[in-house]
Amino acid sequence: MDSKRIEKIIDEMGGKDSPLLQVLLAVQDESPNHYISEESVGTIAKHMGITRGRVYSTSSFYSEISLKPRGRNIIRICTNAPCENAGKLQVQNALKDLLNIDIGETTEDQLFTLESVNCLGSCYMTPALKINETIFGNVKKEELPQIIGRFK
Ligand code: FES
Repeated sequence: MDSKRIEKIIDEMGGKDSPLLQVLLAVQDESPNHYISEESVGTIAKHMGITRGRVYSTSSFYSEISLKPRGRNIIRICTNAPCENAGKLQVQNALKDLLNIDIGETTEDQLFTLESVNCLGSCYMTPALKINETIFGNVKKEELPQIIGRFK
């Protein structure tokens, strides 16, 4: 991602006083592969006057931030107890079969990355998953081909 654009994002969020996590999320959002590249780490550190180590440690701490390229669509499946008890494992296994990838992997065509998350804040409609910004609740494995098809 262009370093000038990253610097602009930081300046718009408050310059050196910007909240690092928010900067990382904004940069990642604009990155075509939804991740923080090594070059982006360097630009963020330099422009915010902090160490690269701090950028790396914050990026590694939050599961929402990725340091490796991801697919065009990010699928997050909730692995917390309420979703677990509502059949999350069957949904997760069906997703893995459908996409032919494991959690943390990206499909060969770079269309989908599958990730797990602790809670999506949608515990009233378990099991839940999120694709990009859209939440799907009470998901049944039979519905997955149609749900995934909407993002191809
Ligand atoms: Fe799954 Fe909250 S426990 S969405």
